Amino acid sequence: MMSYKVGNKLKLDEVIGLYKDSTLGKRRPVKDRKRFLKMIKNANLVVTAWDNKKIVGIARAVSDFSYVTYLSDLAVRKAYQKKGIGKMLIKKIRQKSGPKTKIVLLAAPASKKYYPHIGFEQHNSVWLLKPDKKLKG
Ligand SMILES: CC(C)(COP(=O)(O)OP(=O)(O)OC[C@H]1O[C@@H](n2cnc3c(N)ncnc32)[C@H](O)[C@@H]1OP(=O)(O)O)[C@@H](O)C(=O)NCCC(=O)NCCS
Repeated sequence: MMSYKVGNKLKLDEVIGLYKDSTLGKRRPVKDRKRFLKMIKNANLVVTAWDNKKIVGIARAVSDFSYVTYLSDLAVRKAYQKKGIGKMLIKKIRQKSGPKTKIVLLAAPASKKYYPHIGFEQHNSVWLLKPDKKLKG
């Protein structure tokens, strides 16, 4: 039976296992446990999917619960993909974010076609300031 939980009190190794098994682990600092723990602890909106006691999916977000929710990570274990879990995790994030709150994210290459498929619009004005870049001027 699949169930969903809101909250970030999660076991670090279980979450790392999930990221690795979804493939998203390749694009996140799973080897830097201290940093990864901070990512989980300081995210203020986390929804997880469970198959009994096994964590099988996660949506990790930062939200002001009023204007915008940044969906940092969405990951579902490979064996559980394409069963509606990703979409349900986003639904739960949306419900918790509030009715006027938009969701913003940067898609990983593997999910480029996923987001438009489930209704997201592409925005052509996303700007990044990477940590190693200096602010000019
Ligand atoms: C992307 C991901 C989270 C989707 O989760 P999921 O539980 O497999 O997706 P869902 O079952 O909710 O899929 C909903 C719909 O999208 C489709 N879909 C799923 N993955 C897709 C993909 N990669 N590209 C296009 N469509 C996809 C499903 O077939 C389904 O279509 P339908 O409603 O017409 O039947 C999951 O595949 C994953 O963890 N991928 C690896 C990590 C990753 O890239 N995460 C995104 C980081 S931003």
